[in-house]
Amino acid sequence: MIEVRPELAYNSTSHSQLRNSIMSKVTTSTLLKFKQEGKKFTALTAYDASFAAAFDSEGIDVLLVGDSLGMVLQGHSDTLPVTVEDIAYHTRCVHRGIERALLIADMPFMSYATPEQAMTNATVLMQAGANMVKLEGGEWLLETVKKLTERGVPVCAHIGLTPQSVHVFGGFKVQGRDAENAQRILNEAKALEAAGAQLLVIECIPASLAKAISDALTIPVIGIGAGKDTDGQILVMHDVLGISSGYIPRFSKNYLKQTGEIRAAVRAYVDEVASGTFPGAEHTFN
Ligand code: KIV
Repeated sequence: MIEVRPELAYNSTSHSQLRNSIMSKVTTSTLLKFKQEGKKFTALTAYDASFAAAFDSEGIDVLLVGDSLGMVLQGHSDTLPVTVEDIAYHTRCVHRGIERALLIADMPFMSYATPEQAMTNATVLMQAGANMVKLEGGEWLLETVKKLTERGVPVCAHIGLTPQSVHVFGGFKVQGRDAENAQRILNEAKALEAAGAQLLVIECIPASLAKAISDALTIPVIGIGAGKDTDGQILVMHDVLGISSGYIPRFSKNYLKQTGEIRAAVRAYVDEVASGTFPGAEHTFN
């Protein structure tokens, strides 16, 4: 039971609202507890206050202002053109819409190439309302993760298929299929946790590798295209609502099609993750 801070008791008009939001606000500790209890949690991208409010009230635990906005909002073919100011603007919008969910802001391409850049740009995103920042990368990122965490910025690391490196990978391809790369990704996950990361996103890797990572780490692991054995799942909202232009990735699911209504679609996603129904074999890589 979380205690209400005494100073809040003096504000009679907003006291009960504040009390409710303080008691139920999702934090990194909440997600850690979910993992320890084996309770699967749900994450979704959001980019504005209205969708964020709907997702928050339907039980999404984590909202991400993803740099996927470069593709789904701005119409680019990858995430590279997204700027810190783009993410900061959408973080401010989403922040105004939510009460309960943990809010993560993506650090865009080249905004954290050095630890110093990372600290300057993470400050902008935290001051825009983020509770945590997400960075793509493995070994080279360890010093940055350590410095950010030591200075009060919680870090979600992102490995596997890291879309900002799409041109290095030669396309949006499943990662870690051979034994050497699988071992490298597992080692990166452990090293990022040791450096201070409090959450990890793993994208487009075989389900067996995702399970090994989730089992090996104490921190919660969120999967996208990583099978059913991660601690949480994340999807891009445009895929869940079937409005992404082009194709819906194989690992995603159009919940609007099966429910016909946005809030019902989000509830179905939350329920299917909680019950272990999503992702199914058809959404999984081996
Ligand atoms: O940018 C984004 O939306 C993401 C998720 C797909 C994990 O990084």
